[in-house]
Amino acid sequence: MKRIGILLSGRGSNFEAIARQIDDGKLSAEIAVVVSNVESAPGLQRARDRGLNVFSANSKGLSREAFDRQVIHVLEEKRVDLVCLAGFRRLLSASFIQAFRNRILNIHPSLLPAFPGLDAQRQALEYGVKVSGCTVHFVDEGLDSGPIVLQAVVPVLDGDTEESLSTRILAQEHQIYPEAIQYVLDGQIRINGRRALHTSL
Ligand code: GRF
Repeated sequence: MKRIGILLSGRGSNFEAIARQIDDGKLSAEIAVVVSNVESAPGLQRARDRGLNVFSANSKGLSREAFDRQVIHVLEEKRVDLVCLAGFRRLLSASFIQAFRNRILNIHPSLLPAFPGLDAQRQALEYGVKVSGCTVHFVDEGLDSGPIVLQAVVPVLDGDTEESLSTRILAQEHQIYPEAIQYVLDGQIRINGRRALHTSL
């Protein structure tokens, strides 16, 4: 069974969606550890409630390198095959990305390369796009810039608020993140330059 490590800083609904798909036998993986840089993150509590291994380290006051060293150690100790960022609100150091090259996924609430960075849903509303969505991508040294594994599109409605758009996008996040994780764990994705290609196609 392939082992995943989940990094989160907040609510943890994507973590929960992944865990549920595993429970339902739709995603074949094991959550080896859930790591947070925020001790009070609700997602971390959800992980504890599920009886999973958790690791939390307060990143405040620690250098990026020092914090990442601790996390790399935990992930290696737990023999994690794939690192899944799920609302992890902290940039990773180059050494972290190096340690897990092409083995880190992230979910972002926009159709990348549109609206990278913070408040992607607000950026989409302010720009006035008519569709938005979410993207699962590999993590590289850039900001939300690695090869794209899956995307889902949602309409942006005239009456949308940041909250209503976020809710619509989130429902899609919960669908495509576990799906993308399965593809990657199954070795179905080959990276060719900027493109993440399905080996079976
Ligand atoms: C999601 O919108 C995700 O796209 C972004 O952070 C949010 C995390 O939500 N990266 P949750 O903690 O998984 O509920």
